[in-house]
Amino acid sequence: MRAIVIAAHGGPEVLEHVERPDPEPGPGEVVVDVAAAGVNYIDTYHRSGAYPLALPAAIGSEGAGAVSAVGPGVRDVAVGDTVAWASVLGSYAEKAVVPADRLVPVPDGVDAELAAATMLQGMTAHYLTHSTHAVREGDHVLVHAGAGGMGQLLIQLAKLRGAKVHATVSTAEKEKLAREAGADEVLRYDDFAEALSGRMDVVYDGVGAATFDGGLKALRPRGLMALYGAASGPVPPVDPQTLNKNGSLFLTRPTLADYIAEREELLQRASDLFGWIREGRLRINVSARYPLAEAARAHEDLTSRRTTGKLLLIP
Ligand SMILES: NC(=O)c1ccc[n+]([C@@H]2O[C@H](COP(=O)([O-])OP(=O)(O)OC[C@H]3O[C@@H](n4cnc5c(N)ncnc54)[C@H](OP(=O)(O)O)[C@@H]3O)[C@@H](O)[C@H]2O)c1
Repeated sequence: MRAIVIAAHGGPEVLEHVERPDPEPGPGEVVVDVAAAGVNYIDTYHRSGAYPLALPAAIGSEGAGAVSAVGPGVRDVAVGDTVAWASVLGSYAEKAVVPADRLVPVPDGVDAELAAATMLQGMTAHYLTHSTHAVREGDHVLVHAGAGGMGQLLIQLAKLRGAKVHATVSTAEKEKLAREAGADEVLRYDDFAEALSGRMDVVYDGVGAATFDGGLKALRPRGLMALYGAASGPVPPVDPQTLNKNGSLFLTRPTLADYIAEREELLQRASDLFGWIREGRLRINVSARYPLAEAARAHEDLTSRRTTGKLLLIP
């Protein structure tokens, strides 16, 4: 099979497209013929070493496809089933080995490509709007990078819960996408803090260094800063006194793994998302598909702000 691996951390050029022996499933594991693998920011951190991996390493954290082999002790999954997963390394490949307890079934009406595009960012948007801060009717919510993969999903899920959604973007073209996703107000980065000053119940910030201070100013007293990423670079250490000064704020730095650790939670989040897709209430905007061999180009496009919505690799 063909797969993307790295022998050293570095830029997109370290992503190697190589031939590998077909994997065999171990106890509790399943082999899946990958129909599509999602491209995510975390893959670029694994590649660069911002989140170091034991080398050599297989890259890719999300995908979907048809089960081609099951290991000893696996129940509830059979050869031929369409399944999807997130937060499992080695997804940039023609075949992925996935622990059976990390798989979710893909229902009729959702094809494997769409399922791959939904899992990681979709479940992240789900936990951010339902668990980190359970958005209520009438909440004022700020979503940074509103045209991005995460941004378009956060806007839609916050709207489903009845919020008034404000979004930031860098260009007019991205503004159009954020509005199509449902944003009520779309701002640029240079004036959002002043425009929203002290009014937001929650800020969803995946941009990080460039937006963090402005986000604190946009929050109402006792509002919540959900800092879930760092597309513009990491936020420097924060003096707790800053939270006091800006109005007894709450700050969290959540990660998906902690919100899908229990199998019931994993299944519930995925099944909510697939349900909303089937009902036409959630739209997954797959904006670009790349051949597996062009993983490096996908990483370059994602980190240089050229993309919108979801990127997929097709083995
Ligand atoms: N914690 C979690 O559980 C979790 C899970 C999934 C993703 N994430 C995080 O979510 C964030 C978004 O991920 P994504 O895959 O959906 O990416 P994305 O939002 O599609 O792409 C990043 C966007 O960030 C904006 N941005 C602002 N300043 C930037 C800069 N200096 N460099 C690059 N981009 C900049 C750009 O939009 P504009 O041009 O409109 O500014 C860019 O398109 C990432 O930080 C990722 O790590 C976290």
